[in-house]
Amino acid sequence: MVLVLGIAGSPRKGGNTELIVENALKSAREAGAETDLLLLSENRVEPCRACNACAATGECVIKDDFMKVFNRMAMADGIIMASPSYFESMTPQMKALIDRTGYYNSVARGRTTFDGKVAGAISVARRTGLANVWTQQLLFILSQKMIVPGITSYANAVGSAPGDVLNDEEGMRTSSDLGKAIAELAIRLKE
Ligand SMILES: Cc1cc2nc3c(=O)[nH]c(=O)nc-3n(C[C@H](O)[C@H](O)[C@H](O)COP(=O)(O)O)c2cc1C
Repeated sequence: MVLVLGIAGSPRKGGNTELIVENALKSAREAGAETDLLLLSENRVEPCRACNACAATGECVIKDDFMKVFNRMAMADGIIMASPSYFESMTPQMKALIDRTGYYNSVARGRTTFDGKVAGAISVARRTGLANVWTQQLLFILSQKMIVPGITSYANAVGSAPGDVLNDEEGMRTSSDLGKAIAELAIRLKE
């Protein structure tokens, strides 16, 4: 059995990002995966302090939820990273997670934690920044040596108020395609 983890990078609980990730995870389950939903609205991950302590000790000095989140990511065979657009960029919550994860994986884990995992990105916006947020997350995914499956279209969704994305037919379809593609590739790689 493969495990697909969806990370919703919005600080707003019950918002559009959470809904679109749940939609992708539903497809992953239908394709035969187990799923886990990780909300950054419920986990405190502070920005990296660049203290380099993890290089010496293998531990991060910041006492927050990062190690718990990192371990959930490390357990997964597939990872979906999703963030709303905040002034054309990912949220500070997702950026903090990316910085902490990428640095810790490089310095304390020899950049091996995510090798060969399958991953993809989703962006959400009222109107602007979709491509930028999607690309920002994707570049991180590639930097961690994860494998990105091809999909029919970018998994981006539009919405402003919580629940709006449910009416974005294309956003729902492309996020669903992504969840399915990640589950199917992760299953094939594990066979
Ligand atoms: C601080 C902040 C900045 C935002 N900046 C943008 C933006 O640059 N472009 C845009 O289209 N929407 C922007 N939005 C709207 C959100 O991307 C949109 O409401 C999205 O659906 C929020 O996702 P969520 O419900 O998961 O939090 C911004 C919202 C906030 C709170």
